[in-house]
Amino acid sequence: MTIWFATGNAHKKKELAAILPGHRIRIPAEAGIDFDPDETGETFLDNALIKARELYALVREPVIADDSGLCVDALGGRPGVMSARYGSGNGEKLESADRNELLLRELGGAKDRGARFVCSMVLLLSEDRFFVAQETFEGTIVTEGRGSGGFGYDPILFLPEFGRTVAELSDDEKNRLSHRGKAGERIRAILDTL
Ligand code: IMP
Repeated sequence: MTIWFATGNAHKKKELAAILPGHRIRIPAEAGIDFDPDETGETFLDNALIKARELYALVREPVIADDSGLCVDALGGRPGVMSARYGSGNGEKLESADRNELLLRELGGAKDRGARFVCSMVLLLSEDRFFVAQETFEGTIVTEGRGSGGFGYDPILFLPEFGRTVAELSDDEKNRLSHRGKAGERIRAILDTL
């Protein structure tokens, strides 16, 4: 099946394509579609639906959209839905490394380091027919970032069971364990039943 993925992030496309072998995953940029929806939702699910519906209106073919972010317990769940925009303002966008530094500074010496990536993923088959999977990837926030794999906040989420940060996992390991990987597996199982 051709499935459009509502993202401009080529890294996320690679991850999803690995999770959904046998399907042709396309992203708007590859078709010259300018796709930059306003992520005005209050939850990951709201935002995933906003992205899915906007892309579906343009392509009229099945769409997968996800919204994800890092939720830090000691920060009341922030940056959460604001993860991509954390620390940005006045038209300026921080680089990932600067966002990570900022988060470590904001968290300071907090004892409670609990945190998780969350991914809400929507498979929209037609205007009124959709399926949702929401999954988490649990860890703790390091005091100093480590690792060069992955993207975004990966260097600062530590996985106690593995003794490594997410940025120290191989692509395969991350796909198996991650919030997006697990949500993608759920969506794959749904696709298999169609
Ligand atoms: P989205 O593309 O709107 O879902 O924004 C997600 C943002 O959350 C990204 O820009 C990253 O900052 C962060 N994020 C989501 N998933 C991951 C991940 O797997 N690793 C690192 N950062 C992530």
